[in-house]
Amino acid sequence: MPRIGIIGGSGLYSLLDSPRTVEVDTPFGRVELSMGSLGGRSVAFLPRHGRGHRIPPFRVNYRGNLLALRKVGVERVLATNAVGGIDPKLRPGTLLVPDDFMDFTKGRAYTYYDGETEIEVGGRVIRGVVHVSMTPSSYCPELRRALVEAGRRAGVDVVDGGVYVCTEGNRFETAAEIRALRILGGDVVGMTGCPEAALARELAMCYATVAVVTNYAAGVAGAAKLTHDEVKEIFSRRMDDVRSILEGAVSLIPEERGCACKDALEGAVVSG
Ligand code: HPA
Repeated sequence: MPRIGIIGGSGLYSLLDSPRTVEVDTPFGRVELSMGSLGGRSVAFLPRHGRGHRIPPFRVNYRGNLLALRKVGVERVLATNAVGGIDPKLRPGTLLVPDDFMDFTKGRAYTYYDGETEIEVGGRVIRGVVHVSMTPSSYCPELRRALVEAGRRAGVDVVDGGVYVCTEGNRFETAAEIRALRILGGDVVGMTGCPEAALARELAMCYATVAVVTNYAAGVAGAAKLTHDEVKEIFSRRMDDVRSILEGAVSLIPEERGCACKDALEGAVVSG
C-alpha cells in the first residue's frame, strides 16, 4: 500500500514508474488514480484537473481525491500548484514551499464533517462535527522539510516559506484584489490549494506543496494581460525541477511520521 500520494497540478500527468490505474469509490464519487513507484517507494498519483486538464479549479473533487488517497493507504500528500507572484521578488519560474495559506475561495465543499456523511479515518468512523486546528503548522513541517531539502540536494533554488492565497477563479484576480492580498500578507496566489490542505488535515494526513510561480500576479509588474498560455509555458519549463524535487522528497520522507498531523483529530471531534 502506498503511504505517499502526489497530487499534480497542470502539466504533471505522468510521474510514476510502472503505473497502473485504480478506481476508488468514495461518498463523493469514484476517483481514478494511478499507483506505481517513485524514488524507490510505492506512490499513488492523482492529476488534480483530470487527464487533459478538463476540470476547473472550483469543480475539482477535493474531498473525493483526498479520501481516495487515504483509502489506498496514503498518509502523506505532496502537491504542486501553479501560482502568481504577489511579492514582486517572486519572479516567474520561482519555486516556493509555502508555510501558511489564506482561503479566499467562495463556494467549495470545505469539510468532510457535514453532520451526515460517515467518514472513516484510521479505523474510526465519524459522522458528526469536527474542528481541526491549523496551528502550529498549516502545512506538514516534515513534508515541507523534505521538499526544501530535496531542492537543495538537486541544486534547485527553492524559497522556504511564504503565504499561499487561494482565490475562487476561474478568472485571474483584478489588480486591486492583488494589492489588497499583498497588504493582508499574501505572497503567492493560486486557485487550487484550498480547501485541499485543510481537507488533508481533516483526514489526519500530512500535506505540503511546491508552488511554481508562473507569472507576476495581476498588476504586480505593470498591467500586462495574464494568459493561461504563459502559466502553462513557465510551468512546463520548471517541470523537470519539480519532478526532481518530488522524487527526492519521496526518498527523504521518514518512514514513520514524527509530526503532529497524524493526531489532527485528537481533541477535534465535537460529536462522533
Ligand atoms: N492567479 C491565480 N491563479 C494562478 C495564477 C494567478 O496569477 N497564476 C497561476 N495560477
